[in-house]
Amino acid sequence: MFETAQSPANGAACERLILGVESSCDETGLALIALPKFGAPRLLSHALHSQIDMHQAYGGVVPELASRDHIRRVVPLARQVLSESGRLMSDVDVIAYTRGPGLAGALLVGAGVACALGAALGKPLLGVHHLEGHLLSPFLSEDPPEFPFVALLVSGGHTQLMRVDGVGRYELLGETVDDAAGEAFDKSAKLMGLPYPGGPHLAKLAMQGRPDVFDLPRPMLHSGNLDFSFAGLKTAVRTHLVRQGLLDQPALLVEQSTQALLADLAAATQAAIVEVLIKKSLAALKVTGLKRVVVAGGVGANKLLREQLDQACARRGIRVHYPELHLCTDNGAMIALAAAMRIQAGRATLSMEPTFDVKPRWDLSTL
Ligand code: KG4
Ligand code: ZN
Repeated sequence: MFETAQSPANGAACERLILGVESSCDETGLALIALPKFGAPRLLSHALHSQIDMHQAYGGVVPELASRDHIRRVVPLARQVLSESGRLMSDVDVIAYTRGPGLAGALLVGAGVACALGAALGKPLLGVHHLEGHLLSPFLSEDPPEFPFVALLVSGGHTQLMRVDGVGRYELLGETVDDAAGEAFDKSAKLMGLPYPGGPHLAKLAMQGRPDVFDLPRPMLHSGNLDFSFAGLKTAVRTHLVRQGLLDQPALLVEQSTQALLADLAAATQAAIVEVLIKKSLAALKVTGLKRVVVAGGVGANKLLREQLDQACARRGIRVHYPELHLCTDNGAMIALAAAMRIQAGRATLSMEPTFDVKPRWDLSTL
C-alpha cells in the first residue's frame, strides 16, 4: 500500500517523524511533523478532507456517513503528506491518532488505520486527546505562546477555560453547563435557515447586521464563576424568529428586507456569544493572575472574537495567541504536534500494542 524503502530525506536520524491522523468528526486530517532532538517540532506537510458538502444536505453530521468517508480518505491523504514532504512510510517513527473525544465510529477508523500501520511497520502508536491537539495548535503559529497560560477552548462540542502550566498539566477553570459556543453558533444559524456548519455562515451574515437591534441574553455572565451557558441564547433566537415569522426559512432565499432583519439577529447572536467568551476569559486571567491567553478550536476562527479579545487584552497588557486560521478547525497537524510535544516533554505513553481503544467521551483534565 505504501512504499517502504529508506528515503534519503530521513538521513538526519537525529529527528523523529510523527504521522498524525485526525478523524474524530467530519474532517479527515493527516500530517507529518519532524521532532528534532532540540528545538520546536516542525510541520512538514498536512492534508485535509472536509465532509461539509456531504453532511450539508442533512443539516448536521451523520455519524455513519462520516465513518465511511474517513475510510475512503485516510490512506490517500497519508500518501499525499508523505509525497509532499519527500518521505516514505518507513521513515515514520511514531503514528499518532485521535483517541477521543468524538464520534465512536469515526474515531475507530483513524485508530484502526493507525494500529494497522503500526503493526505492519513495527512502529509505536500514540493516542492523542483531540482537545489537547486544539490547545497546543498555536505552538505551530508564527507567534507561539509560552507556558503558563489561560486557554479558551471553543469548539463545536466543548467550551472550556483551562489553566495550562505545561504539556499535560491542565486544570479546568470553567466550562459550559449546556451547549458549547460552536453549538450556539450552529443551532442559532440552523434556526435562521443558514447552511451547516452554521458558525462561519452566521459570522458572515452578521457582518451586514447591527448588533444592537435585538436584545439577546448573556447567560451566566454574572454567575460569579467561570462556567458558561448558551442554551438560553438559542431559545431567545428562536423566540425572535417565531415573532417575525421567519423560523427555519432558508435565509439565503428570503427577500432583502428580511435578509437585513436576519443579519441584525445574526449580529446580535454573535455579539452575545463573543461578549460572554471574552468577559469569562478576562475573569479567568484575573483569577489566575496570568498574563497570556490562548484561544483554540473552531470558534477561534471568528473574526469578531479575535478583534474584540485583542483589543480587551491590549488594554490590560495581556498577550493573546491563536492557531493559524487554517489550523483552527479540526486537522491532523494538531494531533501530530500534540504527540510530538508529549514525547518531547517525556509525557507520552507509546504503545506497540495494536489496540482499538477509542474514547468517545474523555475529559481533558484527567490527562
Ligand atoms: O474545533 P472544531 O473544528 O470541531 C470540533 O472539535 O467541534 O469546531 C467546529 C465549530 C463549529 O461549531 C463551527 O460552526 C465553529 O467551530 N466555527 C465558527 C467559525 N468557524 C468555525 N464559529 C464562529 N465563527 C467562525 N468563523
Ligand atoms: Zn475539534
